[in-house]
Amino acid sequence: MVDHHGQIDNVMHESRLFPPPAEFSQQARIPTREAYDQLWQRAADDPVKFWEELGREELHWFEPFTKTLEWNEPYAEWFVGGKTNACYNCVDKHVNEGRGGRTAIIWEGEPGDQRTLTYSDLLEQVCRFANAMKSLGIGKGDRVSIYMPMTPELAIAMLACARIGAVHSVIFAGFSAEAIAERNNDAGAKAVITADAAWRRGKALPLKHTVDQALVKSPTVEHCIVLDRVNEAVEWKHGRDHWWHELVREASPECPAEPMDSEAPLFILYTSGSTGKPKGIKHTTAGYNLYAKKSFEWVFDHREGDVYWCTADCGWITGHSYVVYGPFSAGATCLMYEGAPNHPSEDRFWDIVERHKVTLFYTAPTAIRAFIKWGNDHVQMHDLSSLRLLGTVGEGINPQAWMWYHEMIGDEKCPIVDTWWQTETGGIMMSPLPGAIATKPGSCCVPLPGILPVIVDEDGDEVGVDKGGWLTIAHPWPGMLRGIWGDEDRYQEVYWSKVPGKYLAGDNARRDGDGYYWIMGRIDDVLNVSGHRLSTIEIESALVSHPEVAEAAAVGRPHELKGEAVAVFVTLKNAKPSDELREALKQHVRKEIGALAQPDDIRFTNALPKTRSGKIMRRLLKDIAAGKEMVGDTTTLEDYSIIAHLRDDEE
Ligand code: PRX
Repeated sequence: MVDHHGQIDNVMHESRLFPPPAEFSQQARIPTREAYDQLWQRAADDPVKFWEELGREELHWFEPFTKTLEWNEPYAEWFVGGKTNACYNCVDKHVNEGRGGRTAIIWEGEPGDQRTLTYSDLLEQVCRFANAMKSLGIGKGDRVSIYMPMTPELAIAMLACARIGAVHSVIFAGFSAEAIAERNNDAGAKAVITADAAWRRGKALPLKHTVDQALVKSPTVEHCIVLDRVNEAVEWKHGRDHWWHELVREASPECPAEPMDSEAPLFILYTSGSTGKPKGIKHTTAGYNLYAKKSFEWVFDHREGDVYWCTADCGWITGHSYVVYGPFSAGATCLMYEGAPNHPSEDRFWDIVERHKVTLFYTAPTAIRAFIKWGNDHVQMHDLSSLRLLGTVGEGINPQAWMWYHEMIGDEKCPIVDTWWQTETGGIMMSPLPGAIATKPGSCCVPLPGILPVIVDEDGDEVGVDKGGWLTIAHPWPGMLRGIWGDEDRYQEVYWSKVPGKYLAGDNARRDGDGYYWIMGRIDDVLNVSGHRLSTIEIESALVSHPEVAEAAAVGRPHELKGEAVAVFVTLKNAKPSDELREALKQHVRKEIGALAQPDDIRFTNALPKTRSGKIMRRLLKDIAAGKEMVGDTTTLEDYSIIAHLRDDEE
């Protein structure tokens, strides 16, 4: 069963099976394979009834819903006619039901400062900040951009928006001023919430300064609220800029949650697609809230007394669903950490796990690869015996990394939940249910109850066992996206046009003979760098906006830590290739998009290989970037334009 020998290079050959530990199953919400099968089947037989019951039981309703699902493909409305509030479900509900003294947030700043907030504390702070926003005229339906470090105030800002019915758009604090401005303008944001600076590896990153640059190009933004995190000097525009602490000092701690329509937008989160412009994925209130809660409870098997730590930043969907809305709805105690995993040293995460007795730990494969590289000593110097479950998200985890996680972090006693999902799905779609499903390293295992995946070929026909194909979802689910902000056509085109009647996820997958799913990568030009989505075209557009660049092609190449690194091929207008220019182009992409999009490799070439119809031969460039195709002294990229003609039909 447990095979520690033999080199496993390819997930396709993986056959090891790890049953759930007996003591875990005994106490689990879904304790056996049979219990999972029954639950999944009941949900599959009548998904609407299944979600109707959960909707009634799990959320607080100011007004009950009258219809569970209104489905006019591709538009879903869940829990129609009902009124609820996601902040109420996350905070007030616990306080009103006598759980106000329970710890909601254990926070650790990068320099080592710590804070603990109970659910009652959280309620008070959320109410004060909600009133502060109201005092600036921010209310129902207004869009608010949030560009903050991982502090409790980031969660408080999100919840306060939900409380008053404002729509938050969290922008990861690594994005550039250009990227912030683009998102502010697309959403028509009325306000931006930020901090003076954020701590990162001991340095203060000047967030307010970046926002100031963005606001020059963001005409809709009237207010900027600034948290004093680092005590950095900042520029100030009177009338527009407000200190967080000054606003909340004046604000009342009472602020009733606004009853919101089930389908009122809760947030927009921008993610990369296969065209240059980021997509503002729209999620709404009741369905998203329910799905985040239930998926959290099923997958992490949360119970009272757990200390749960999801290492994701709230700038990504994982931070939305599994730092804020899922765990808080479930009344969990969540650890939040502000900084880098290797500050002040490479054992920081394990030090945190030991000191706070973390029981449920959720991170990304890219982080696991870094831990492996840093060496076992950093792990072994800490007592990790509090851990009872481990999770991963963001990209596939290769079996070697899975085994290391299992042995070195989990001491062979913690189930690993490899969770497949997307910004668009709102919550985890496939994962082992940890008390019920035996795991296979590298597989995201099985669909959650109420989720009906189907793998199809390009004609939309279901493929057979072990055949790769497009991953689709056959029935609407409450957590699904409701659209792309301001772009209905793109919503229909990207997700609903190629396979009629089914949601097209954009990933390839296969299902094995045991019904386990294996994700096989994207079907489009989207890169996955350290678990984050980047569009090749976005990077190319950034490069071409540099005055010396004539044309650019971006591809992914395998990278030991990041999974994929960005490699670009550039043709120049007049300038001569040089290391200085290479560096300048890297900085240019950083400025246009953010550090996460900075290319690792830049190759200058006189021409890009193209098909007869003028399409860049990406597959060939990918092979070259990965070192599979030689481009040495004798072969130049131009020579490939000849090959291009021969390979026309490939592209
Ligand atoms: O390609 C899949 C990959 O990440 C994509 C979604 O990216 P994003 O919307 O940024 O959300 C990431 C966090 C949910 C998917 O289309 N992906 C995510 N999780 C996995 C994965 N690929 C393989 N295995 C996973 N567990």
